[in-house]
Amino acid sequence: MKTIKAQSYKELSRIAADVIAAQILGKPDSVIGLATGSTPIGTYAELADKCSRGELDFSKVTTVNLDEYVGLGGEHPQSYRCFMNRNLFERINVRPECTFVPNGCAEDLAAECRAYDARIEQLGGVDLQLLGIGIDGHIGFNEPDDHFTRETHEVTLDESTIEANSRFFASPSDVPRTALTMGMGAIMGARRILMVVNGKNKEEILRRALQGPITPRVPASILQLHPDVTVVYSEE
Ligand code: PGA
Repeated sequence: MKTIKAQSYKELSRIAADVIAAQILGKPDSVIGLATGSTPIGTYAELADKCSRGELDFSKVTTVNLDEYVGLGGEHPQSYRCFMNRNLFERINVRPECTFVPNGCAEDLAAECRAYDARIEQLGGVDLQLLGIGIDGHIGFNEPDDHFTRETHEVTLDESTIEANSRFFASPSDVPRTALTMGMGAIMGARRILMVVNGKNKEEILRRALQGPITPRVPASILQLHPDVTVVYSEE
């Protein structure tokens, strides 16, 4: 595991975007796993800038997102599909039909989860997975639990996650209680992992994830077993 301390959020975003750009330059048809949350927004802005300067070409890239709220359609401003369109997909030359986000409005959520895993398998797995980390140690929406879950699945969000994400909604009661998330199988199966972590309030959970025991109570701790993880951290 490689840990890089950035001096600022701007520097974190530049470093993370450079890693993703290097991946795509080396393999133009990469499958890139993407994350939502506030931390990757700067990374996505840097990637969009690289694309508009002609330095980076997403035309052969496929993306698979980690998660989506149950019950929010792609047109809902707080859905992760909408977040991705707004922050990245509309600003780069990726083909929209090659961007995948779980459908949180599927009639049969279990079937949607199975289809999502089948899609990732059919794509040959993820080349580079971008991750954030929740204040409770979640990656994607894999919340602390008594076991790790391999498949894409429906989860009940932790109170701490609902509270943290309520800043994007009119009130905490508007935050969906459940979500679909990629499981640990697809995440750990990614050939490379890039984790972006920003803010002093993440310092303690990051330390527990990287140095503490490997336990589903700190879901990100599973990354200690992955052979190619880069963590970019800023305190800003
Ligand atoms: P944040 O979220 O980037 O908004 O802190 C990270 C996460 O919950 O994965």
